[in-house]
Amino acid sequence: MLEIRNLSLSIPVSGEHVLAVSDVSLSLQAGKVLALVGESGCGKSLTAQSLLRLGEFQGVAKETGDILLGGQSLFDISAEALRKIRGGVISMIFQEPMTALNPVFTIGSQILEVIHLHTDLGKVESHQRALALLADVGLQDGETLMKQYPDSLSGGMRQRILIAMAMAGEPEFIIADEPTTALDVSVQKRIIALLRGLQREKGMGMLLVTHDFGLVAEMADEVAVMYAGEIVEQASVTDIFDNPSHPYTQALMRCRPEFVQDGQLAVIPGNVPSPGDWAQGCRFAPRCSLATDECAAKSVALNAWQDGEHQARCIKVGV
Ligand SMILES: Nc1ncnc2c1ncn2[C@@H]1O[C@H](COP(=O)(O)OP(=O)(O)O)[C@@H](O)[C@H]1O
Ligand SMILES: [Mg+2]
Repeated sequence: MLEIRNLSLSIPVSGEHVLAVSDVSLSLQAGKVLALVGESGCGKSLTAQSLLRLGEFQGVAKETGDILLGGQSLFDISAEALRKIRGGVISMIFQEPMTALNPVFTIGSQILEVIHLHTDLGKVESHQRALALLADVGLQDGETLMKQYPDSLSGGMRQRILIAMAMAGEPEFIIADEPTTALDVSVQKRIIALLRGLQREKGMGMLLVTHDFGLVAEMADEVAVMYAGEIVEQASVTDIFDNPSHPYTQALMRCRPEFVQDGQLAVIPGNVPSPGDWAQGCRFAPRCSLATDECAAKSVALNAWQDGEHQARCIKVGV
């Protein structure tokens, strides 16, 4: 199990550290998909990257909380152990396949580097392994492909290669941050089918960051909704669709493309506040059609019902 426990993260804003993720708790289980949803700027990527302690490279600091892998804190291990975990136990698939590959190295050398990092295979076996990984992600002519450079490939092929690289260390957990957003719709479907197939076949736990509820319905077991740096609702995928409880979740649901009315896609009025500009009480209250004075008065804790299976951060639900 991979667990985020009461994690708060701050980011550098003009020389000061400002809270951008606050008191987030989530857990990933083997074989299960947890979807993390919410509008842009809510802190989803910061949360996802924290699982590999990647934010630190961009000045993100942990203020409170912990990340536990099988009970062991990722903040309490050696740099060497952390390097082995990255890609060996937890792998990340990024949104932008172009920037994640190095343009000056061949596909082959980039895949072989990852294999080298995570296995003791010799030269011939590594090459075989690279071909097998490419075949696993639906890329057939591996020999030719390995000699090519990233910019000669389509976005869909590049994302397949990144998925192959993410699988090279046979990870137990996969963090996919909007893995298909940069791709054409038809390619998206195939990449999702591939990811879902690999996740099930290998029994990996997965964190899927997305704003696509179609994808959530197709892939997720559990859903966490994030707004302004905090989790505002969490439940099983069935409960999220059947009984969305937080007004923010309900608003996101109404904005789905399948609910287009008179050619108009619904939008939530207003914008996600930047870190540092969060409202005092309920952070969604300024945009919430149900908000009353009480909502703005003080911050709201997560209420839980159904034996804790369904949680929402709203004074109007779950009590
Ligand atoms: N390294 C960073 N330095 C400064 N600000 C950042 C950094 N990373 C993210 N942010 C800011 O933190 C907020 C949350 O970002 P992010 O986690 O990327 O949101 P999401 O993935 O939900 O769109 C945004 O306002 C973003 O601009
Ligand atoms: Mg993001």
